[in-house]
Amino acid sequence: MGTRILQVLLILFIQLWFSTAQNDDATSLRALKDVWENTPPNWDDNSDPCSGWDGITCKNSRVTSITLASMGLTGSLTGDIGQLSELQILDLSYNKGLTGSLIPAIGNLKNLTNLILVNCGFSGPLPDTLGNLENLIFMSLNSNGFIGRIPPSIGNMKNLYWLDLADNRLTGGIPVSSGSTPGLDMLIHTKHFHFGGNMLSGTIPQRLFNSNMTLIHLLFENNQLTGTIPSTLGLVKSLEVIRLDKNFLTGNVPSNINNLTGVFEMFLANNQLTGPVPNLTGLNVLNYLDLSNNTFDPSGVPSWFSTLQSLTTLKMYRTSLVGQLPAALFSIPQLQNVDLSYNRLNGTLDIGSSHSNQLQQVNLQSNEIGDFRQRNQYNIELILVGNPICTETGTTDKFCSLPTNTTSTYLTPPNNCLPTPCSSSGQVSSPNCICAYPYTGNLFLRAPSFSDLGNSSIYESLRNAMMNSFRRSQLPVDTVSLSNPTKNLDDYLVINLQVFPSGDERFNRTGILGIGFSLSNQTFKPPAAFGPYFFIGENYDFLLGASSGGGHKSSNTGIIVGSAVGGWVLVALLVLTGIYAFRQKGRAEKPTHESSPFALWDTTGGSGAVPQLKGTKAFSFEELNKYTNNFSESNSIGTGGYGTVYRGSLPNGQLIAIKRAKQGSTQGGLEFKTEIELLSRVHHKNLVSLVGFCFDQGEQMLVYEFIVNGTVKDSLSGRSGIRLDWTRRLRIALGAAKGLQYLHDLADPPIIHRDVKTNNILLDERLVAKVADFGLSKSLGDANRTHVTTQVKGTMGYMDPEYYMTQQLTEKSDVYSFGVVLLELITARNPIEKGKYIVRELKQAMDKSKELYNLHEVLDPTIGLTTQLKGLERFVDVALRCVEETGDRRPTMSDVVKEIESIMELAGLNPNAESASNSADYPSKGSEHPYTNDNLFAYSGDQFPPRLVPK
Ligand SMILES: *[C@@H]1O[C@H](CO)[C@@H](O)[C@H](O)[C@H]1NC(C)=O
Ligand SMILES: *[C@@H]1O[C@H](CO)[C@@H](O)[C@H](O)[C@H]1NC(C)=O
Ligand SMILES: *[C@@H]1O[C@H](CO)[C@@H](O)[C@H](O)[C@H]1NC(C)=O
Ligand SMILES: *[C@@H]1O[C@H](CO)[C@@H](O)[C@H](O)[C@H]1NC(C)=O
Ligand SMILES: *[C@@H]1O[C@H](CO)[C@@H](O)[C@H](O)[C@H]1NC(C)=O
Repeated sequence: MGTRILQVLLILFIQLWFSTAQNDDATSLRALKDVWENTPPNWDDNSDPCSGWDGITCKNSRVTSITLASMGLTGSLTGDIGQLSELQILDLSYNKGLTGSLIPAIGNLKNLTNLILVNCGFSGPLPDTLGNLENLIFMSLNSNGFIGRIPPSIGNMKNLYWLDLADNRLTGGIPVSSGSTPGLDMLIHTKHFHFGGNMLSGTIPQRLFNSNMTLIHLLFENNQLTGTIPSTLGLVKSLEVIRLDKNFLTGNVPSNINNLTGVFEMFLANNQLTGPVPNLTGLNVLNYLDLSNNTFDPSGVPSWFSTLQSLTTLKMYRTSLVGQLPAALFSIPQLQNVDLSYNRLNGTLDIGSSHSNQLQQVNLQSNEIGDFRQRNQYNIELILVGNPICTETGTTDKFCSLPTNTTSTYLTPPNNCLPTPCSSSGQVSSPNCICAYPYTGNLFLRAPSFSDLGNSSIYESLRNAMMNSFRRSQLPVDTVSLSNPTKNLDDYLVINLQVFPSGDERFNRTGILGIGFSLSNQTFKPPAAFGPYFFIGENYDFLLGASSGGGHKSSNTGIIVGSAVGGWVLVALLVLTGIYAFRQKGRAEKPTHESSPFALWDTTGGSGAVPQLKGTKAFSFEELNKYTNNFSESNSIGTGGYGTVYRGSLPNGQLIAIKRAKQGSTQGGLEFKTEIELLSRVHHKNLVSLVGFCFDQGEQMLVYEFIVNGTVKDSLSGRSGIRLDWTRRLRIALGAAKGLQYLHDLADPPIIHRDVKTNNILLDERLVAKVADFGLSKSLGDANRTHVTTQVKGTMGYMDPEYYMTQQLTEKSDVYSFGVVLLELITARNPIEKGKYIVRELKQAMDKSKELYNLHEVLDPTIGLTTQLKGLERFVDVALRCVEETGDRRPTMSDVVKEIESIMELAGLNPNAESASNSADYPSKGSEHPYTNDNLFAYSGDQFPPRLVPK
């Protein structure tokens, strides 16, 4: 009997032994270690890569990820890499010392999803076997020295989302399918074709594009492409960024390019395009347009010069334009830079009396302009050198001389502190004035939507987004600093980045690996306005402990011993190991004692037992005092009747907003407890969530998550610099409506907010609306109750008149206030402004028989009046139903949600898409962010990769 069991065990063991021997990832990785130098020192501690080697993640003793960005590795890839058949992620970015070719064995990695080799020293041709990687989602091979053709087999990567081959020395044409040969036209799930900066030649095949594609970024700039732009390009409706500049393209621009209504950035400059200047009337979210230096037919000023209301930048030098510029061009609200030099524009220049307040430079050098209307009062940099106004009249006005080149300098300023002089070399004083060794590199933004590089708010928005991303991935980053923005020759915006460690003066190795990966893998997504980017990191020279130096042959003792020892002994070992593992597991699962978060609950004064809370933390006064810098003035972000709101940050870096009741407006302990219990039960993505509370030393504070983009009110008033177009407003309306619907229908007991207003709707970094401030909220308590009678509270202008008169509060009171919010969303006016009430004003201006109900005058101009405001009328209808006199005639919040969803569908938007956009604080885009809504992209920052961050 006993022998029988042992026999079975032996057979099992032998099977196990063989299967591990066949997939001996450890051997392969040790072989790679032998040919690489500067591998992490802890690779020498132990011969098993799955025992915690830095940069290596395993699952069931199989290596599943290798992420070694910025380690200073040198050496080459050998066939051993092809043995790691369960590998999913390979990131060797920013190791310039990795050279040689990408060996064909790479094609064996059938489970690979991410292949990231940015800015290494690889060369040689790309192997055809790449096409075997059918699970690949993300491939970045940019900034190496690859030569030869793009392998047609890449067309077989049917899950590919991101294809970046830019900045190599690739030649030949762009492969398309034909018969049984695959091609890039088959990549219908790919969103990014980044091929710029190569030597690709031949025509762009007509077959490359089709209506099934979902491309958003098409970057072919700076190659040697010839022939015409294929008309099939107009079929790819998902496109947002097109760069075909710096090629040898000829012929007419296909007229259906005007169908690409989602394009934000278009660069066709420096080609040899002919025929008429293209009609771009349909591109009504276009931010950045460069058609310069083509040989179009001489043409009058196109009509779309004054209708493309989202333009920040218009560049059309050397494009044979003739005639007088319309003043309307200059009143486009976000316009920053106009370059129409070397044309034949004539007549009198009129920039209008109210030109865009962002307008910085207008370059009209070498045209035929004879006069300038605002000659004595203008505040932009205007260049009229080489026009009759300067050449024929001897004028000495400033606009008749070339401006001296001013480069905009920017450096993230210190955050309310004095920079510290740092003693050791390599240390830098961070924006928080702490000397530390930063991780540095350059961000390359391939198609930014703006041209004003001097506006610090754009860099702030980039920093915020980056810090949020690092926090989400739990990377040990204290702060980041941006500096020296410049445009390079390829028209990329290059920004220097320094990332500072938290809690220590230097990063450890896992920290660097995590940050490098977050940037090489595009886990960090910048705000929409920055467009596609790539990052090039430098080696981090400040790690403690020497590198392995490579070449140390690690012993294979384990294996040798293993094969030499007899079966019975191994079985015994196996059993022992099993018992040991079981014990260890038991230990790990033993609950670790934590101090009760409710220990600080003040049980005196009849406040009862500690609150029953899920995921809500009790903070001591001392803690919050520390997190807010002693509740300093500079941390205060708002005050109201109840007290002050402070911004703070938890030791883990999470930003918090602390609402501190002032003396005299605290409530009874029992009420406070009830409130926290209520708030901590409420969890919805459109509601600001409670992180914790403080009921200590006579203080009452509520601690919320901090929402970076401020209130909807701030955005509508222009204070926040976030431009809300129609799409975004619809998404905000929907998000806020869903938050309220949750409170009314799904919270148990139901909650009436009582103070719905644009000041209480916040926008997160992805512009997702979050309803805040339940300070006045009332719970209906018993589910059968339909109203509560209560003292009237709320905000003038938003308050339900019925509630005001009867003091009976129902959900419909929130619906009324929400109706006012909807009206505010389209007009950007305060509910009561100069004694006028928004509801009455709108009803008076309205004429249902006319287009847009004749509301042009009252609509907010920045909503983008010339873009189609699809569904606006129905939006007004639902808003007006919300503000009906009596509650019974108003819809419920759930009706409102359904109606807004159907308006969005009508407007061609997906109401279920995650967010309005990635955080785009500045010159904002029309609709979706390039990276949102990408369900195909299987990873988000939170999941990646499981072991990069020390636990
Ligand atoms: C790797 O691929 C094989 C075959 O496709 C599959 O069975 C296996 O589950 C994959 N492994 C992982 C970790 O996904
Ligand atoms: C697009 O996809 C549909 C459905 O898969 C297919 O029938 C059609 O042929 C495809 N069109 C093109 C141009 O590939
Ligand atoms: C696209 O443009 C072409 C030519 O400009 C036009 O005939 C066609 O109807 C447009 N297609 C769509 C779907 O808008
Ligand atoms: C205009 O484009 C041609 C290539 O088509 C290029 O050689 C030339 O340098 C460009 N000129 C300017 C002023 O950019
Ligand atoms: C340009 O395109 C628009 C449609 O987007 C059309 O209404 C207009 O007539 C076109 N203009 C010219 C001059 O073809």
